[in-house]
Formats: sequence, structure tokens, C-alpha cells
Amino acid sequence: MAPKIMWIGLGNMGRGMVKNLVEKAPLLDSLIIYNRTRARAETLRSTLPDPSAVTIAESVADGVSAADIIFTCLSDDAAVTSTLETALQSATVAGKVFVDCSTIHPDTTSALGKLVAAAGSDFVAAPVFGAPAMADSGQLVAVLAGARPVLDRVRPYFKGVTARAEIDLSGDTLTAEESWGRATLLKVLGNTFILNMVEQLAEGLTVAEKSGLGTAPLVSFVEAIFPGPYAAYAQRMLTGDYYKREEPLFSVDLARKDLRHATSVAEKAGMRLPNAETAQAHLDRVKERDGSKGDIAGIYGAVREEAGLDFVVFFVLAVVVAASAGTWVFVPRFFPKETQLIWRSSVIMALACCYLMWAITYLAQLNPLVVPKRSNLRA
Ligand SMILES: NC(=O)c1ccc[n+]([C@@H]2O[C@H](COP(=O)([O-])OP(=O)(O)OC[C@H]3O[C@@H](n4cnc5c(N)ncnc54)[C@H](OP(=O)(O)O)[C@@H]3O)[C@@H](O)[C@H]2O)c1
Repeated sequence: MAPKIMWIGLGNMGRGMVKNLVEKAPLLDSLIIYNRTRARAETLRSTLPDPSAVTIAESVADGVSAADIIFTCLSDDAAVTSTLETALQSATVAGKVFVDCSTIHPDTTSALGKLVAAAGSDFVAAPVFGAPAMADSGQLVAVLAGARPVLDRVRPYFKGVTARAEIDLSGDTLTAEESWGRATLLKVLGNTFILNMVEQLAEGLTVAEKSGLGTAPLVSFVEAIFPGPYAAYAQRMLTGDYYKREEPLFSVDLARKDLRHATSVAEKAGMRLPNAETAQAHLDRVKERDGSKGDIAGIYGAVREEAGLDFVVFFVLAVVVAASAGTWVFVPRFFPKETQLIWRSSVIMALACCYLMWAITYLAQLNPLVVPKRSNLRA
């Protein structure tokens, strides 16, 4: 008989993964879902083609007692630890499998694995790579670590269902205890690649704009050489998605947590991660500006700000206002009284028109409504 599955955590990642589980996984019965904020579970259920495919648990304890395999996908170490502690205290858990898909510190993963094992259950560390859009389309990359027979029980829920690929870190010579932390170690180090990519794009697009190259050639280069995440993030930056979203896709809080973990792992290994430190400083600025709504693509805003780009329009406006005031003051010195009003208004209107034409052209170049494309008319 197929095991009964429970999913805890219906954030940006969990929602997409649950959608794929109910569509593609071998489930005999409805999937039990639980989220701290119940409204999220209800919204998810109402958007599924078959709402009876899921059952909302009243509490962690209720859901865990009815399930055989329990997945968690929660924001940080404290959330996963408190949820698993509640789960282990509140139900008969012997023989159940706990699978954690969250990104947490490797030491926390190891500690949780031991806690679960001490309660007579099995533990699999299964952090995932990929943005929420990839969770929605079942295209994540899952990193799996645990005892091999236990991994075999949870594989039917990853490759081909929630994930397009798996990286198996259990190894033939490692014990489960030795392997759990390796999964989140790879995950936090892998996330430094993602944040460094965003940092590189932010710098590249900003310098392309300031140096006069323009952003379009750089985007063509990125699309040709680094299609995929690079190209997607470049579009998010250029379309203003880096500051316009109500809900972040990859929140600044999660990213700062990931970099803290990566930095601590590096420190333990006796080295620093200077690239990650640069991204961390820009994320601190995003957090300061946008609060918890900030998204990692907001690094672009922080880099632009440092480069003085967002202030150019206001700086030029200040110059035009000063020139207009100067005109108003100095016109009486050079022109007869009866023509002063004409001179004043003519010069000030000319300055205002020039400013408007410049500002519209400048802003249109920054945020083109239609991204310029090569015509190929002259081959
Ligand atoms: N977003 C990405 O691009 C991405 C990609 C790969 C991996 N990840 C990792 O996947 C995990 C989930 O990310 P996400 O983007 O889905 O995060 P999210 O949208 O912020 O959702 C966080 C989830 O954790 C729950 N939660 C937070 N604190 C809690 C607590 N103290 N007790 C119980 N539940 C709590 C939230 O419940 P409420 O709804 O009640 O707040 C929500 O279900 C994180 O570890 C993240 O680092 C994220």
C-alpha cells in the first residue's frame, strides 16, 4: 500500500511542490497539508483542479499521527526545529520518515537527524535548488542524503514529480548520520553561486548603462552565453521586477540566512567568502529599504544606488530649477522692464522642455517598453 504523505509549509516553494505531488506522485489517498497560517492551505486547496486531493490538518500533531512520510519546507532553522520537536513530542512517530526540504545550516540538519533517529523514526535531508517557478513546474534539483533504504522510500516524490534531477549524497561508505549535513552543506554553498550571479548581473547591467554601452547588448550576451537563470534574472531586473513585487520570490530574509550559513561554514573551514560578503552587504541595503518584502533581485537597486544612477534624474532637475531661479533673478539686469516677463517665461519654459525631453529619453532607455531587437535586415 502506498504510504500516507503529509506536507508542512506552504510558502513559495511548498505550494508548487504540493501541486506536483498531487498531480504526479503515487498517492492512494489525499495528501495531508499543514501551514502555520491556515489561510494559505485553504487558498492552495481552492486552486487545485481537484480540491479533494488534499486534506488540511488541524495541527502538526494531527497530521503527523495520520501520516507515514512527513515533508517539511520551512523558512529557517528555528522554524524547522520547533516544528519537528512538536511533531516528535505529539505523536507516535516510530517507523515514520521525516524529509526536510528547507535550506538550513548543516549542523542543524545533523542535529535534527539525530533527534528524529532518537525517536525511532528515519530522516532524509532533501534541500532543493530552483526558484518558485521551477517548484511550480516540477523542475527542481533535489539533494538527497540519508540511509539508502530510506532514500529509496522517498525517491518516488522527487525525480519526475517535484524535481527534474537528484544529487545523491548518501554515498556507499557513509552512515546516514555522516551524510545528512552534507546535503545542506552543498545547498548553502550552491546558493552562494546564485547570489553571486545576481550580484554580477547587477554590476554588469549598471556599468553597461553608465559606460554608454547600454543594457541591450549585455542582455544579448547573457542570453547567448548564459541562458537560464542568468537571462531570467536579467529580465527581472530590467523590467523593474526587482522592486515592484508585493511578495518576494526569493526573499531577502531567506537569502541573508543562506549567506550567514555559507559564511559560517567557510569560517569553520578557515577561509572567507569575499564575493558572498559583497552580496550580503547589498542584501542588508535591500532589507533596510524594502523590509521583508525585499527580493534578492533588489541587489540591482542597491548597486544602482551606489553608482548614483537612481539620483541622476533628480540631480539634473535640481540643476534646471537652479538655472530657472537664476534666470528670474538676472533677467532684470539685462532687459528692459516691459520685456522682462517674456524673457523670463521664454527661458524657463525652454529649460523645462529640454529637461522633460531629456528625462523621458533617459528613462525610456533604462526601462524600454519594447526590448530592442536586432533586425537582421543587413546581414
Ligand atoms: N524561494 C526560493 O527561491 C527558494 C529556493 C530553494 C529553496 N528555498 C528554501 O526553501 C524553504 C522555503 O522557502 P519559501 O520560499 O517557500 O519560503 P516562504 O515563502 O517564506 O515560506 C516559508 C514557510 O515557512 C513557514 N514558517 C515560517 N516560520 C515558521 C515557524 N516559526 N513555524 C512554522 N512555520 C513557519 C511559513 O508559514 P506562514 O505561511 O505561516 O508564514 C511558510 O509556510 C526555505 O528554507 C528556503 O531557504 C527557497
